[in-house]
Amino acid sequence: MKVSIILHVLCVTAVIASYDVTMDLDAGLTGTCTCTCVSNKPKDCVEAQRYSNQSGVVMIYPNGDNTPLRVYCDHDTDGGGWLVFQRRQDGSVDFYRDFAEYQNGFGDVEGEFWLGLDTLHALTTLKNQVMRVDMTQWNGTNIFATYSDFSVSDSCNQFKLKYDNMTDGNVARDSLSLANGVTFSTKDEGKVSCATSYHGGWWYGMNCGDSNLNGLYKDSKQWGWDGIFWYSVDRFYSLKGSEMKIRPAS
Ligand SMILES: *[C@@H]1O[C@H](CO)[C@@H](O)[C@H](O)[C@H]1NC(C)=O
Ligand SMILES: *[C@@H]1O[C@H](CO)[C@@H](O)[C@H](O)[C@H]1NC(C)=O
Ligand SMILES: *[C@@H]1O[C@H](CO)[C@@H](O)[C@H](O)[C@H]1NC(C)=O
Repeated sequence: MKVSIILHVLCVTAVIASYDVTMDLDAGLTGTCTCTCVSNKPKDCVEAQRYSNQSGVVMIYPNGDNTPLRVYCDHDTDGGGWLVFQRRQDGSVDFYRDFAEYQNGFGDVEGEFWLGLDTLHALTTLKNQVMRVDMTQWNGTNIFATYSDFSVSDSCNQFKLKYDNMTDGNVARDSLSLANGVTFSTKDEGKVSCATSYHGGWWYGMNCGDSNLNGLYKDSKQWGWDGIFWYSVDRFYSLKGSEMKIRPAS
């Protein structure tokens, strides 16, 4: 007779992620038990995925100490392990905010939100990160682009965005290139005229740039640079939704 039982085994500084227990009672109490222990303080969404492969909200501990950060991990996209730092989907959160709010973050990670520039700086300083943008058009088409070596500088440098290359994507041209090496602007700091006419907070570059994912949410496909757009997707036509996310480079 073979039985499978759940054993409660303690890992010292970790929790058990999976059991695989089989015992053969006919041969006496012999059997095997394989347990996988993982840290109960995941540093990022890749480590968190070993607990749970379901997309959702988790606590991570980026610094390895007792300071938790509440984040949304996306495990459904390209192998998972993505930490989402921006989401637009229904216009429920106002993104026309001042610099301090973009610095600190706003909204809720389960809905529409901006994680915050200070946090983004901290996370992209700790490890080399890949950044991925996922966008949805009003007709349901999904667009993405990935960027290598993505980082955001500190507040003294106005949270300058930097990346190495666009490495993948199903879009013809890179609409983030004019934002590369550019500082962050809002209606009260930086390129105020761009933030005002584009109605958001962003790394507004030359001629304000080619992308505006923190722009005004419009309830249908509409033309205008104050909306959520990514020029190489559909020029100045507004998008239905967007997510921006990072994952440590492997
Ligand atoms: C997560 O689930 C996907 C799909 O079921 C699977 O391919 C992948 O190996 C899983 N990853 C982990 C870390 O369990
Ligand atoms: C959605 O619209 C774009 C143009 O904006 C077009 O290229 C694409 O083929 C459309 N997709 C569908 C599924 O209709
Ligand atoms: C980035 O692109 C440049 C120019 O195409 C290329 O020379 C370089 O090797 C690329 N870097 C990486 C990390 O792929």
